[in-house]
Amino acid sequence: MVISNRGPCLISRQRTVGGLVAAVEPVLKATRGTWVAWGATVGPGPPVSLARPAGPYYFREIHLSEPEYRDYYLGLANECLWPISHCLVETARFSAGQWETYRKVNEKFALAAAQEGDDKTFYWVHDYHLALVPQLLRRSDPQAKTAFFWHIPFPPPDVFRLIPWQQELLAGMLGADLVGFHTAGYVKNFLECAASCGAVVDFARGRVDYGDRAVRVRALPVGIDWEAFNGLAASGRVRTRAEAIRTALGAERLLLAVDRLDYTKGILERLAAFDLFLEQNPSLRGRVTLLQIAIPSREDVGAYRNLRSAVEAAVGRVNGRHDQGYRAVPVRYVSHPLDAAELAAHYLAADVALVTPVRDGLNLVAKEFCACRCDLDGALVLSSLAGAAENMPGAVIVNPYDTPGLAAAIGLALAMTAAEQRVRMHSLRRAVQKHDVNWWWQNTLKYVVTSPRAFHHAETAVPV
Ligand code: F6P
Repeated sequence: MVISNRGPCLISRQRTVGGLVAAVEPVLKATRGTWVAWGATVGPGPPVSLARPAGPYYFREIHLSEPEYRDYYLGLANECLWPISHCLVETARFSAGQWETYRKVNEKFALAAAQEGDDKTFYWVHDYHLALVPQLLRRSDPQAKTAFFWHIPFPPPDVFRLIPWQQELLAGMLGADLVGFHTAGYVKNFLECAASCGAVVDFARGRVDYGDRAVRVRALPVGIDWEAFNGLAASGRVRTRAEAIRTALGAERLLLAVDRLDYTKGILERLAAFDLFLEQNPSLRGRVTLLQIAIPSREDVGAYRNLRSAVEAAVGRVNGRHDQGYRAVPVRYVSHPLDAAELAAHYLAADVALVTPVRDGLNLVAKEFCACRCDLDGALVLSSLAGAAENMPGAVIVNPYDTPGLAAAIGLALAMTAAEQRVRMHSLRRAVQKHDVNWWWQNTLKYVVTSPRAFHHAETAVPV
């Protein structure tokens, strides 16, 4: 059973955007489990629906009231835990009222999960929205098999301790048998936080003794559905679409960035670097286009609305500064979500992917891009501040705050010889294929239960 805040679709039946859904949905399709999640509905209504079939799995929908949406989701989750976890301390807000609602909503999720499960259920709880759920499940069934995965960066103790409820959050997470993160760095931060709150920590073995239980803490970076992306990129339909995208854009060279519109994604920093790149390389104006796909997100949070205006103004500025008499525009800005086939076509159409967040738990776009480059061409420019950088040999690594450095990396990637692209893309693809979603799921299960059920790839794109 997967328990997460974000579920598979919005009420408008538009696909949701974000790494969590991309990571857990293939597992649920293959295992035919149950997903307990918020269905993106807000307002009056029954708090929890009955589990209903949603393609090959079941979906038990949690409903949020207006105050719950405001204080739990927008407030505590996205105005406190999100910025703190990304070490963007200035952006964080702390409100006792929001914390109270967060606690209650976590109880609601835990109760819905416990009602749905039995003594054979493996509970897989996800992300910072639901940090208290593992402990609540443990209270209702001390034998419950539970894993908790934190999908975003985990901050060092000096930052985590700014949260007035840090003890409660840690105790909540330590209710699980396994706590997983994307990188060894986040594991170290978590263990240090647990130690500073008085738990007995074995750093070498990744183990926390908490109460009468031992909790394993592991780096298990999320993978992508390799076969799905690799397969899409090989299909004639997707290849034809990729050519059409190239023709429509009319640029000789194409840079691609795909993000949720979030201040952690480094969109403004990327636009500044591209601006500098065009200033330094005037002969490339009208010949190179940056296609920036930025899908609006969390628009009820002020910081996100402000970012959207700032990005749109920056796109206009760069286009105004470098326009070359109606030749290919410097920046093409797209703000609607793409389905998997359309995404694959864009990955294929591009020469270079720019994945340059200022802070990111992992970043699946980097992996998806490589999975689509079966012809071993193209280059990946990747931020050293994305968790993915820990295991992407072959990427051009950059610091997104270093504007001249990022501008130079864009030039390097565009000028890379075919032979160098081949060598780099080969190692990138090997790493992505090895640590795919199957690997992630099997390893999670290995730590929690003794005999994992086989995970067979399910190629079903069933709308839910
Ligand atoms: O990956 C982190 C995460 O918060 C996921 O939990 C979520 O699905 C994604 O980002 C998108 O954010 P939201 O669910 O707030 O739209």
